[in-house]
Amino acid sequence: MDPQEALRTLEEELERALGLIAQVRTLDELESVQVSVLGKKSRYTQVQRSLGQLSEQARKDVGRRANEIRSRLDAAFEERRSGLVKEAERALIAADRVDVTLPGRRGRAGSLHPLTIVEYEIVDAFIAMGYRVVEGPEIETDWYNFTALNIPPDHPARTMKDSLYVDIPGMLLRTETSAVQIHAMESQQPPVYVVAPGRVFRRETPDATHSPVFHQIEGLAVDEGITFSDLKGTLEAFARGMFGEEQRVRLVPSYFPFVEPGAEIDVSCFRCGGSGCGLCGNGWIEILGAGMVHPAVLENVGYDAERYTGFAFGLGIERVAMLRYDIPDIRLFYEGEVRFLSQFGRAT
Ligand code: FA5
Repeated sequence: MDPQEALRTLEEELERALGLIAQVRTLDELESVQVSVLGKKSRYTQVQRSLGQLSEQARKDVGRRANEIRSRLDAAFEERRSGLVKEAERALIAADRVDVTLPGRRGRAGSLHPLTIVEYEIVDAFIAMGYRVVEGPEIETDWYNFTALNIPPDHPARTMKDSLYVDIPGMLLRTETSAVQIHAMESQQPPVYVVAPGRVFRRETPDATHSPVFHQIEGLAVDEGITFSDLKGTLEAFARGMFGEEQRVRLVPSYFPFVEPGAEIDVSCFRCGGSGCGLCGNGWIEILGAGMVHPAVLENVGYDAERYTGFAFGLGIERVAMLRYDIPDIRLFYEGEVRFLSQFGRAT
């Protein structure tokens, strides 16, 4: 290659390279332009390789120009490279942009189960009257579930028909929260004013108002001078507060081995208003059993039955919730259907 040709080649390559550099859109493209302009097989490298064959003067001239061009090109490549890096960063930021003024997507808030809402309301009503909340185990011994409650071994409630037994001899799933009365009295001396919410289990075929697993709240008051009037006043006040003045409430005699006398409280049916329908049968829905604590029960826990008297009650939370919310079938409580559950207000 003669010096003229070498210089011309260098100038052409400079022009060509600057044109290509201006056109590239990506770092990869820039890389390949760099290889084609300055790589081993490039015309620039060929010129450099030919320098040895030139005269001393020509070598100096061509060599100097080659170096100048090399510096121009290095600078041009570098400038374009940093320009592309900045562009890429800007594009990334633009793609990641968050519009903080857009309305947010709300997660669906859960709500308390209607049975929990009703349980809290009932418990709160009794706390306001000075009662304390206690709890007992769901698996009970024969003593707490039956014997201490004055339910003799031959009582029908003991047969397999009503109770669910576990694999441990003498133990069963509690059939009523009344078992907690015994725990409460064993752990303290009178006066006792407690409520005990909890789950109970019975061998039953489910229908619109019966479930084999349901919830009760037990109440127990033992003190000097407690009479049936206290029981009546307390439960009527509670029922009025819960269901309103208009709802009719009646107290009817009933039998439970652990009370004497025994009673139940019925509330007029929310479906038919008391005329009788498929839900209630006779116009009334039973919400609780109650009575004066049997002296034998007080004696079973070591209390002086001459000195102390008491009343107890056990109400079905499902039944109260059904009346309260106009729910026609008890099974709706256990299905976990969100459209049903979401109607009962937000968690508090
Ligand atoms: C009792 O369980 C007694 N322990 C109540 C009691 C306590 C009486 C203290 C005297 C003194 P009973 O089996 O009737 O009684 O149930 C009480 C309440 O639980 C009923 O009034 C009803 O509201 C509810 N209940 C009973 N069986 C079911 C069932 N299978 N499904 C849903 N609720 C029920």
